[in-house]
Amino acid sequence: MSSKRMLVTAALPYANGHIHLGHLVEYIQTDIWVRFQKLRGRRCIFICADDTHGTAIMIRARQEGRPETELIADMQAAHEKDFAGFEIAFDHYGSTNAPENYELCKQIWGSLRNAELVREDDVEQLFDPEVGTFLADRFVKGTCPSCKSVGEYGDNCSKCGATYAPTDLIDPVSTLSGATPVKRSAKHLFVQLEQLHEFLDTWTQCGEHLQSEVANYLKGHFLGKPLRDWDVSRPEPYFGFPIPDSPGNFWYVWFDAPIGYIASTHQWCKHNGEQLEDWWKSSETEIHHFIGKDITYFHTLFWPGVLKAAGYSLPTFVHIHGFLTVDREKMSKSKGTQVRASKYLEHLDPSYLRYYYASKLGPRLDDIDLNLAEFAQKIDSDLVGKVVNLASRTARFVDGVGLASEYPHDGGLFAAAAAAGEKIAEAYEQCDYSRAMRLIMELADAANAFVDNTAPWTLKKDPNQQVRLQEVCTIVLNLFRQLCVYLAPVLPRLAQQCGRLFQVDITTWEDSQKLLCGIMLSKFEHLMQRVDLAKVNQMIEESKETPAPATNEAAVTPASSEVPTTDSGEALLAEPLAPTCTIEDFAKVDLRVARVIKAEEVPEAKKLIKLTVSLGGDTTRTVFAGIKAAYTPAQLEGRLVVIVANLQPRQMKFGLSEGMVTAAGAGGTEVFLLGVDSGAKPGHRVH
Ligand code: 2FM
Ligand code: ZN
Repeated sequence: MSSKRMLVTAALPYANGHIHLGHLVEYIQTDIWVRFQKLRGRRCIFICADDTHGTAIMIRARQEGRPETELIADMQAAHEKDFAGFEIAFDHYGSTNAPENYELCKQIWGSLRNAELVREDDVEQLFDPEVGTFLADRFVKGTCPSCKSVGEYGDNCSKCGATYAPTDLIDPVSTLSGATPVKRSAKHLFVQLEQLHEFLDTWTQCGEHLQSEVANYLKGHFLGKPLRDWDVSRPEPYFGFPIPDSPGNFWYVWFDAPIGYIASTHQWCKHNGEQLEDWWKSSETEIHHFIGKDITYFHTLFWPGVLKAAGYSLPTFVHIHGFLTVDREKMSKSKGTQVRASKYLEHLDPSYLRYYYASKLGPRLDDIDLNLAEFAQKIDSDLVGKVVNLASRTARFVDGVGLASEYPHDGGLFAAAAAAGEKIAEAYEQCDYSRAMRLIMELADAANAFVDNTAPWTLKKDPNQQVRLQEVCTIVLNLFRQLCVYLAPVLPRLAQQCGRLFQVDITTWEDSQKLLCGIMLSKFEHLMQRVDLAKVNQMIEESKETPAPATNEAAVTPASSEVPTTDSGEALLAEPLAPTCTIEDFAKVDLRVARVIKAEEVPEAKKLIKLTVSLGGDTTRTVFAGIKAAYTPAQLEGRLVVIVANLQPRQMKFGLSEGMVTAAGAGGTEVFLLGVDSGAKPGHRVH
């Protein structure tokens, strides 16, 4: 039995930055799921809001010389415009800086106090005397107390990975003003999450509310030890809600942000004559949160704890997705791969991205990669070549005559595709959109084979074949419409165009089971164009930004300063595994132990070090390795490494590279060479 109501949320975007293609993974993923639920006849609302509070907004508003409220209003308008451009259809889009949110924060805070979950403690923090504000981790830079690397942020060291408090930094400097911060003590309020440990253990581990890898991650990283007290207050000045029973203190942005889910629902309720209790305190309502993996902690431990303590419903499921990479790399402003939503819309059709993301998204937390060549190829081949073409190759042939009055024999194509509907629905339900898209494209392939076999363009030329032509077009157009129903959650615009063509709107999933016959079609309108690669390139070019100087950078990116990822600093979840390869495939790669006998700077190269390595005996190789940011030549000479010895030599600007040194890590300073245990000799093969 399905529940009466469904409430679905996507994470509330920060008001201090524009929406880009990375954010859109989640909003598109959630929008598809909501549209699917609605199409299946579920009563479902999609709630979101701007996340408006925090130091970042306060500083930015000061820099821009205007009130925070003006800044967040402008950003909210920009966000809503971007979302509308991508056909992300919220039922309500609110703001955390709303009176409803303040009321709910006060009420929930009262419950936490009553449950004796709040404690007070003095906290010493760095304070910028020039700007007059306490400094969050990312607003301070200094020398790492551990390895003495200079220019490190206040939370962890990019060189040695040590984690520490900003007050531990040697020679700290405020990134806001360049001033030397002073230590200042202030009262902070903490939620003692440990008191809810048993409940959180059960809730996270029962197998019903989280993906299994998330449950395991929580168990391995947090639940095996006492849960940290959660610092939910910030001393003034701060842009946020003042804590009524603690003058001079404000709730930390992460306290009021998730409460914004409830507040925004409340606003929707007021506009629609509904009761908030029915949506947040009823066992007949399912609550689904969609979030990225970086904010797992807040949504799977802190938030359920708060909801439990305050007597609200717990999330039915927290759906967590991975990050977006572009061509397997982190999005980069300098490379132009951090493309703003608005920039994309200047050049490309939003349906392309919706379909491309759908074809990549599965139910797990794997990162998804946007490969621009594949993007163009997939749209051209799947959407234009297989789906839209069905209509564009047939609709004009029934101009003036319409569809046959009875559905002709089609060899079981429509019935088979109708029967596939439940499998497709199941894939959508499980957020396995890539599977749903594969299943739909298999149906499209069958429809196209029918078109190729019946060749309506040939029938058109033969006056004796006009009845057959109408029959063939009736079949193909019904198959086209069926695909449009299945694709409607992903491609709402195509579903609307299809509705206009048939003069019958697509409104429910059941439309995929119904044939349309004996009707006239409206004039065929062009449905979708192939991807224009020149526009893709132009979009990337126009997105390229030169890096801002360090001081400004901190001012525009500090959202992350207030978004701790994991306590341990470990990568949250590994990148997805490559497809299976055979032992024979693996054997083609000749990995050898090698000793670095010489390591030299390549002064003209930004990233490279030139290595001469010995493979035993007289065999040496020259290899240019992109490890300059992570290693000095002196650290390399004499050490053992593992190299790909049979890689085709590559002529580089600085010389011939005759192999590749193996390393792990994200690149830049995060490169870790693979070594071998002692005893291994240069020339040994790695099996
Ligand atoms: O990570 C973020 O972008 C946050 N603004 C998400 C908040 S989600 C919810 F808790 F409000
Ligand atoms: Zn360090």
